[in-house]
Amino acid sequence: MPVPVVHTTAELRSITDLWRSAGSRIALVPTMGALHAGHLALAQESRKKADRTVVSIFVNPTQFAPHEDFARYPRNLERDCALLQNAGTADLIYAPHANEIYPEGFATRIVIDGPARGLESDFRPHFFSGVATVVAKLFLQCRPDVAMFGEKDYQQLLIVRRLSADLDLGIEVAGVAIVRENDGLALSSRNAYLSREQRQVAGALNHVLDSVVERVKSGISIPQAEAEGAAGLIRAGFDRVDYVAVRDAQALAHIVSLSRPARVLAAARIGDIRLIDNKPVTP
Ligand code: PAJ
Repeated sequence: MPVPVVHTTAELRSITDLWRSAGSRIALVPTMGALHAGHLALAQESRKKADRTVVSIFVNPTQFAPHEDFARYPRNLERDCALLQNAGTADLIYAPHANEIYPEGFATRIVIDGPARGLESDFRPHFFSGVATVVAKLFLQCRPDVAMFGEKDYQQLLIVRRLSADLDLGIEVAGVAIVRENDGLALSSRNAYLSREQRQVAGALNHVLDSVVERVKSGISIPQAEAEGAAGLIRAGFDRVDYVAVRDAQALAHIVSLSRPARVLAAARIGDIRLIDNKPVTP
């Protein structure tokens, strides 16, 4: 049977309300489409956490700055639906019309502090407010028991956890490990923008992060390991490094030594293509 695709909150709720009253646990997998194996892993993992899985597909305009790639962001609903159909992991696809999310006169924005401070926010100041606002809308429209988020966007995962806890939404926010290509490049919808030469360079990002992990574990100072990581990215062919940062894994606070679980996070650009990645650093 084909996976139903709905475009309005009323249709979404008519199905999820039935599931809920039958006692089913519901998972939501929020995405912006252009699905790849990373997204599919979230839907796969959701089967362990819930009886029914809703995958949402919405390219959210409020998380893009005017100079960013909203207009050219890859969109192909038919292909996305076929991928989910083949995977057999989604029970419902929610692809809301823009006015279901942002009806005329919409004037609310959610602003998060704490883990939203620094890193991505230093380079994309509008970003997490746009993410938090759309995720809150999707959560309230779908009312899932659990929501699946990739560790690929580690800061985003922590922010959504904060959102759910701070607003008493009662939704478990589950993190899913990063799915990578053979050379270790984290899958991303934006990898499609890379030329063959740029793709070669991109493969270095995760290896540089591995070396930062090793250097921190070997006892060098965190600022030195971060500086070496940034230099390593430039040597590998990246044009600009936004950050290489080793932070506390729970709240992304600055740390001076490796006394508790940490995370190394990086963002760097090849031409105008911006890639992010991160790895755990265990003491
Ligand atoms: P999008 O970039 O489409 O990602 C949707 C989800 O897939 C996110 O939770 C992201 O972390 C996860 N993901 C992407 N690549 C992954 C990979 N290689 N391995 C594991 N998980 C991966 O993130 C967004 O959309 C948006 O900000 C959204 C939360 C939908 C709000 O608009």
